[in-house]
Amino acid sequence: MSALFIGLMSGTSIDGIDAAVVDFDGTPGIVATHTHPIAPELKQRILTLSHGCDNELEQMMLLDREVGLLFSEATNQLLQQANIDATSIIAIGSHGQTVRHYPDKGTTLQIGDANLIAEKTGITTIADFRRRDLAAGGEGAPLAPAFHNAVFRSTDEERVIINLGGIANITHLPVDSTEIVSGFDTGPANILMDSWTERHLNQPFDRGGDWAKQGEVNQALLEQLLQEPYLSKAPPKSTGRELFNSDWLTQQLNSFGETIAPEAVQATLCQFTATTIADAITNHCGNNSAVFVCGGGAHNRHLMQLLQTALPNLRIDTTEALGVSPDWVEATAFAWLAKQTLEGKAGNLPAVTGASHPVVLGAIYS
Ligand SMILES: Nc1ncnc2c1ncn2[C@@H]1O[C@H](COP(=O)(O)OP(=O)(O)O)[C@@H](O)[C@H]1O
Ligand SMILES: [Mg+2]
Repeated sequence: MSALFIGLMSGTSIDGIDAAVVDFDGTPGIVATHTHPIAPELKQRILTLSHGCDNELEQMMLLDREVGLLFSEATNQLLQQANIDATSIIAIGSHGQTVRHYPDKGTTLQIGDANLIAEKTGITTIADFRRRDLAAGGEGAPLAPAFHNAVFRSTDEERVIINLGGIANITHLPVDSTEIVSGFDTGPANILMDSWTERHLNQPFDRGGDWAKQGEVNQALLEQLLQEPYLSKAPPKSTGRELFNSDWLTQQLNSFGETIAPEAVQATLCQFTATTIADAITNHCGNNSAVFVCGGGAHNRHLMQLLQTALPNLRIDTTEALGVSPDWVEATAFAWLAKQTLEGKAGNLPAVTGASHPVVLGAIYS
C-alpha cells in the first residue's frame, strides 16, 4: 500500500516552486521531485505586489490566478516526469506564495488559487494553511516545526532543525516526549544576501557563499544589524519580507556611505545570519543538541562553516542524515500538513505559533 501526497512550496526567496510526491505509508519517503521555474518577470511582479504598488487588488487577483496556474503546471509536470497517475495521489498541500505576512495585525496572505490547482490537476487540494492558526491567536508561522516533531524527533538525541530559506526558522526537539517543542523565525537566512547579490552581481544568489567568503566582516555594521529589535523579541514570533528587505538593508548601510566594499557587506550579512541563528539556539535550545540543516542555505558552504564556528560544541549536519534531503523538507512538510487536514488532525503547535489551541489547518478544495 502507498499513501501518496504532493507538497507544493514556494517560500520567501521566490526561487522556484518545489513540488514533491511523498509516500506516507510508514516513514515519509520522497518518491519524486520537481522544481518548477518562476520566470524573473513573474518574480518581479510578486515582489512589487509584496512591497506595495498601484491598483493592488487587481494585481493581486491576476497574480493569484497566474500563480495558481503555475502551481498546477508544476504538479502536472512532476507527475508526468515521474510517470505517476493523478488518480494515485490522495491530495495536494499547497503553501501558495506569500505576498504579505502581518502576524501582529492578525493576518497573512498566500496567493495561488487552489480552485485552479484542483481543477487543472484533478486532485483534491488543501491550501490557506496559515490563517486558521492566526484566527486561533497564533502567528500562522512557522508551521514546519509540527512536521519536524512528527518525523525528526528522537528519543535518544536532543535535536535542533534549522531551515535556511529566505527567512531562517529553528525547531527544538527535546528527547523527553513530555517536554514541549519550541520553534520560531530567527530572522533572515538568505533573503538579504540574495538581495545584495542581485544588486551587485546581477545574480539571484551567492553560490556556495563564495562571494561572502572573499570579504571581511565589518564589525561595526554587524553590531548595528544585531540591534534590530525583532532579534531580541521573545517567541512566539515570525517575520518576512515586510521587515527584512532591500530597503531595510539600504537603511542599515546609510551611515556607512560607500566605505564598505560590496563583498565585505556580503560577508557581514552571512555572518549576521549565522550569529542570529547561533544566538537563538544558545538562548532557547541550550547546548546539547545535534543540529540538522535544511533549505537552500544548506548549499551555502560558507554559511554552514560560520554556523559550525558559532556553535563549536554542536555537531552540525544536514537533514540528509535523517533521511530527508534538505531541499525537500519544506515541500514534504506541506504534503504532511495536507494529510493531517484530510484526517481531521491539527497541523499547528500552539507552543510554537502562539495559537490558543491546536487546529486543523487549511481549506479543502475537493
Ligand atoms: N548552491 C547554493 N549556494 C548558496 N545558496 C544557495 C544555493 N542553492 C540555494 N541557495 C539559497 O537558498 C535559497 C532558496 O532556498 P529555499 O529553501 O528554497 O528558500 P525559500 O523557502 O525561501 O524558497 C536561494 O534563494 C539561495 O539563497
Ligand atoms: Mg524556495
